[in-house]
Amino acid sequence: MPRVKKEEQVEKKPRKKAKPIQTVKGMKDILPPEQFIWDYILHNSRKICQDFGFGRIETPILENTDLFKRGVGQATDIVEKEMFSFETQGGDNVTMRPEGTAGVVRSYIENGMSRWSQPVRLYYEGSMFRYDKPQQGRFREFHQFGAEVFGEEGSAIDAQIIYLAWKIFQKLGLRDVSIQINSIGCPTCRNKYKKLLTDYYDMKINKLCVDCKRRLEKNPMRLLDCKEEKCLQVAAGAPQIIDNLCDDCNTHFKSVLEFLDELEIPYVLNPSLVRGLDYYTRTVFEIWADGDEGESRQAALGGGGRYDGLVELLGGEPTPAVGFSFGVERVADKVMKMGLDLEPKVVKDVFLVQLGDMARKKVMKIFDKLVDNNILVGESLGKGSIKSQLRTANKVRAKLALIVGQKEAIDGTVIIRDMDSGMQETVILENIVEDVRRMLKG
Ligand code: HAM
Repeated sequence: MPRVKKEEQVEKKPRKKAKPIQTVKGMKDILPPEQFIWDYILHNSRKICQDFGFGRIETPILENTDLFKRGVGQATDIVEKEMFSFETQGGDNVTMRPEGTAGVVRSYIENGMSRWSQPVRLYYEGSMFRYDKPQQGRFREFHQFGAEVFGEEGSAIDAQIIYLAWKIFQKLGLRDVSIQINSIGCPTCRNKYKKLLTDYYDMKINKLCVDCKRRLEKNPMRLLDCKEEKCLQVAAGAPQIIDNLCDDCNTHFKSVLEFLDELEIPYVLNPSLVRGLDYYTRTVFEIWADGDEGESRQAALGGGGRYDGLVELLGGEPTPAVGFSFGVERVADKVMKMGLDLEPKVVKDVFLVQLGDMARKKVMKIFDKLVDNNILVGESLGKGSIKSQLRTANKVRAKLALIVGQKEAIDGTVIIRDMDSGMQETVILENIVEDVRRMLKG
């Protein structure tokens, strides 16, 4: 048997493939085809906010954990079990924001925005993090686009924020959505109502799911939107907040609805809509895609409401406020299903064709010159044959092909070919921008 040399033996050993590293559970990449949809959503939303007089704000992803404990509420699902919290090397307890409102309120206070001309209107967009069970439309990193108004207590502003949300969805072409609306009153009428509700649920305690039994003491209003069949049946007979609002809250809510009627915004009165964050007062609303009514928590495209106590709770002067946000992933999913053709068509003025290494170097220089002069340039530097490069030039509907072969590279010239007529002209490389401009015009 012939002896195999040592190096050959080494070469034949199958190479061990490294184990690929995947995204963290519940998080995902947003690739170029999806980015067209995201650009469409964000561009339109920003434009509408700017038209309504909102200024953009960016707040950090990391905030002190106390901000959310105090702001969103200790007894909420978000604070109880969904926060990405950790201690920094310096010993600070921080949290990756689970929502945008608390950070914007912190910034309003910290930056003295109460001294600005009121109302202060702000919009924002960015990543939020919730350690929730990942499923369809629910991620651990997701993105919100939101808007907040500070310093106006009148019902017109509640209506305006709902109008803004409605307008964004209409502009995006999402017509099969409904505004679900309710009022959860002020602390005075809500506390009375909570007592009424607790008494009611106490009598039905055996018919409740484990979670609701636990929630009853701390947060009885959350029982109203539990999706368990047996809890739904109990909730159907529960007293409704809307029948227990104080006079001021009642007048406020009626007035919001009148504004919506005037603006011809259709809405659905939903007495079991309570929202999952503690800071709300009076008006609360969600935007649902039609057909998703049974699963509001998973399916809401957006949500918001008034939160008149939050600025004070977080250390500012008493300041009324109202806002909303929508989930970009959920909206993108709906937009994608509409099948709009959002991908911009690639069209170039000029396509660069090269043959050989020397020509390739010249072409890279030409590319740079043309781009600097705002001429749309395409190239396929990796391709060898002139034929295949001209085919690509046709595909991107280039008006001119600029051809550089070995001879042209040595002479410092370029062949310009009119792609429609096939006419060719040889020009000097130095003057390429002027010649291209002249031939594009001609
Ligand atoms: P939210 O209802 O908790 O409200 O979230 C708003 C939207 O964010 C939801 O309607 C949904 O589209 C999206 N969203 C929430 N959680 C997830 C998730 N795990 N995966 C994907 N999307 C999700 C707020 O956050 C309030 N800050 C809204 C607000 C602004 N209220 C007043 N101003």
